[in-house]
Formats: sequence, C-alpha cells, structure tokens
Amino acid sequence: MSPLLEELAAIVGPAHVLTAPELVAGQVTDWTGYWTGHTTAVVRPADTAQVAAVLAACHRAGQPVVPQGGNTGLVGGSIPLEGELVLSTLRLNRIEQVDPLGRTLAAGAGVTVAAAQQAAAEHGLLLGTDLASRDSATLGGIVATNAGGVAMVKYGSTRSRVLGVEAALADGRVLTRWIPLVKDNIGYDLPGLLTGSEGTLAVITRVLLRLVVPARHTATVLAGVDSVVTALALRDAVNRAGLTLEAAELLTAAGLDLVCTRQGLRHPFSEPTPYAVLMEVSGPAEVAEILAEALTSVDGLADAALEEGHSARLWHYRESHTETIAASSSTPAVKLDVAVPLGHQEEFLGRLGPLLGERFPTARPICFGHFADGNIHVNVLDVSADERDAVSDAVFTLVRRYGGSISAEHGIGRAKNRWIGLGRSPADRAAMAAIRTALDPAGLLNPAVLRFDTDR
Ligand code: FAD
Ligand code: MLT
Ligand code: ZN
Repeated sequence: MSPLLEELAAIVGPAHVLTAPELVAGQVTDWTGYWTGHTTAVVRPADTAQVAAVLAACHRAGQPVVPQGGNTGLVGGSIPLEGELVLSTLRLNRIEQVDPLGRTLAAGAGVTVAAAQQAAAEHGLLLGTDLASRDSATLGGIVATNAGGVAMVKYGSTRSRVLGVEAALADGRVLTRWIPLVKDNIGYDLPGLLTGSEGTLAVITRVLLRLVVPARHTATVLAGVDSVVTALALRDAVNRAGLTLEAAELLTAAGLDLVCTRQGLRHPFSEPTPYAVLMEVSGPAEVAEILAEALTSVDGLADAALEEGHSARLWHYRESHTETIAASSSTPAVKLDVAVPLGHQEEFLGRLGPLLGERFPTARPICFGHFADGNIHVNVLDVSADERDAVSDAVFTLVRRYGGSISAEHGIGRAKNRWIGLGRSPADRAAMAAIRTALDPAGLLNPAVLRFDTDR
C-alpha cells in the first residue's frame, strides 16, 4: 500500500479502502457500460469529517479524486477515467431528520432518492424530485447533477429543492450552509452553485432539502397522439379543466414498440400512433372523470388508457425505456439529453430521423422525455464507435438551430465536454473556469469532467 492509501486507511478504516479489482469493478464502469476507467482505490468515508480528512490528504499528495454516489449518471462523470481515486459517498447514508412543520429533510449525501422519498412519505410529504434511478441514485448525486426527472414539470429542478448543503472543498475545508428556510439572502448562493457542479467544486456530504405536500387525488393517462402539437393541446386541455400536471412524458411509436416487445407487455393501443403521452394529473376527488372529459376535447387523440391514482402499470411503459434501450443496442447507445423550445419540438423530431438515417444507415433513434419541460432524450442505438461523435454533432447542430440546449438535465460529465461551446460563450466558460480555480486551485476534483477549454 502507498503512504497515501495507508493514511486514508487510518482515516476511514482499512475495510473502507477498496483496492482489489473485483471490489472496485462496479465503481469504475458507468451505468451505460460505455465509460470504463481504473483506480488505485475506492475510499468510503462515513461522515463529513472523514470526507474532509480524505480530501485534505489527497490534496497534500496531489491526488485527483472523483466523487461518486449511486453511479447512475449517464454522462461518464462518476468514473475514474484517468486513474483518479474514487471517493464513494455511499456510507453517508443517514436520514437525520424530517421536519414536518418546516417541511424539510436533512440527510447524508449517500442516502438514496427512494429512501428519502420513503422518509418524507412517512410524514405525509413528498421529496419533489423523482426519477427512474431512484433506488440507486443518491441525494448528493441529484444535487451534484441538478437532476430533472418526471416531477420537474410541477416542482422545478433539484436546485429549487436545495435549502442547504454541507460540503468539503478540495483542500478539506468544510462549507456549511444550513438554514432551514427559503428566505435567506446573505451573499452568494453557494448551495445553488454546488448544485449542478458535477463533483468539480466540492464533495457534498449532507443536504437540506425542501419537501412538498403531495396531491390528494391523481389520475394517470397513457394516450396515443398523432403529433407533439396534440400532446401540447392535451397539456393545455388539462390546465383549462383546472387540473394540475404532476408529470408529462412523451413516447414515440419506436420506443413503445421496443418496450412492449422486450418487456413482454401488451401494446396499450389498438391502432399504432406516432407518439404517445403519459400524463399524471391532480385535482379534486373527481379528477379521473374531469380528465376523461378533457381528453374528449382534444382532436388527434387515439386510444387512451386512464387509471385512477398513480398507475404503476401505465408508468412501466415509460420508466422501462432506459433499461430496454440499453439492452437492445448492439453498441452502447449514444445518449443525448437535449431541450428544444416547445414550439419547435414537432419539427425537431420530424427532422431528426431522416437526418440521421441519411448519414448513419444503421443508426436507430429512439426519443422520449419530459416534453412539457422541452426535454427530449435522444437515444441512438447501433452506432459504431467511429460514428458516435458525428451522430452527436448532427443532433446538437439541429438542437442549436432551434435555439435549444445540448444538455437538459444529465449534465456535461465527460461525455459532452467537446460540445460545451455550443451552449456557453467564451466569457461564460471563462467565468465558470475562474470559479472552479478559486475553489480548487490545484484542479484535483473531477478534473476530466466539465471542461471549459473546448476550442469551439
Ligand atoms: P453519480 O452517478 O454517482 O454521479 C453523478 C455526478 O455527480 C458525477 O459527476 C459525480 O462526480 C457527482 N457526484 C455524485 N455525488 C456527489 C457528491 N456527494 N458530491 C459531489 N459530487 C457528486 N437524471 C435526470 O436528471 N433525470 C432523470 O429522469 C433521470 N432518470 C434516470 C433513469 C435511469 C434508469 C438512470 C440509470 C439514470 C437516470 N438519470 C436521470 C441520471 C442519474 O440517475 C442522475 O444524474 C442522478 O442524479 C445521479 O445520481 P448518482 O448518485 O447516481 O450520482
Ligand atoms: C429518463 O428520463 O428516464 C432519463 O433521464 C434516463 C434516460 O435518459 O435514459
Ligand atoms: Zn429524463
């Protein structure tokens, strides 16, 4: 063992410095299977003091570090691609408090989203962030990536849920912003800055999140639609009927067919439609009847399956997309997570298939996503290794033509570094680089992630 690893073992205990290849294997490959790195050790501190001590020791030794939570990120940001040490937050897994009066949750960064949701539910409250990776993704991870997810249409991004954080800087100093109030206007919003920083500014060790009150009556509908315009008309009809959108997701025929085939599900519609919409809405006790009535007011709707409450059965058609796509591509799918202004989504989706088909004959695009937020997950299956960047280039160029974003919710990570210039100006990148240098002058935290030195 090197002197650094011996020092780390003294801090966290020898059992929590993993070095054997079979023990670190799960931490050096990402969820998509595309990014694989290598490391001398995965270190698992148990509290903020240990995280700070680990970082201070690494700082003295000039050792780069990759913070890792549940390792469900989709942009290669949690993987030690250059041999960095992995700092796993999974032992920071204590739910400290749910305050039902203040509607807050205080917890370690390694607590999973599902565990936090459960803790909130025990007090009749809701986390306000939800995503299909909930069983593994951590609170530190959703804060570090400013995760979006299916509840964003109602409750906003993770950033809007963050009241406070405790975090250790690269040199081991600890920042604590911990006021359990939405009103706290003293200086820069450091928790907001760390949210979405992808492990490049600090290691988040504890989070203080704002909870919300769940809707009492909900209904879920999965409806076949002829266009995105009709999907948006359905959203408007729901709002006009006085209902609230809890979630609004778009599926395509290709995605739905694939999911039905691979998951052995009965196709939900008697007639095929180019798109389908999954919506969960809330309202008064008669929400299901009001929703059924609203559906009749929209032209371009085909079959619709409607169920009272949160329908796990209908959600399964949507939530199994990511896994199904991963299992169905002959090469790791190119996962692009873009946003396109709502008025252009129809045209964007209409042009995407032919554009890719012309240049990449084997490529199979499958799109889905949080359409009411403008967010479309463009997955391109069966792309050869030497075509991956050109596929991304083509999609991002189209996105920019419509004034959209090349990264809606997954972040930049390692995967999107090349294209950051398509979304941020040189002055903007210089400002971000200056912040990073101020907090981590030696450049030791997640050095390969969120690079601002792109030449575009
Ligand atoms: P990791 O993957 O471990 O890390 C992600 C990034 O955060 C890395 O850069 C890492 O260095 C950094 N990081 C992690 N923890 C910390 C910490 N404590 N301090 C500092 N930096 C840290 N994302 C969405 O936004 N919306 C979705 O709807 C969504 N759905 C998904 C569904 C599936 C099936 C899967 C596999 C992924 C999905 N994701 C989604 C992506 C992913 O789950 C999120 O990005 C999640 O926030 C990552 O959490 P994690 O704990 O797994 O973080
Ligand atoms: C989702 O919304 O399911 C995700 O962000 C995951 C994905 O893009 O595959
Ligand atoms: Zn998503």
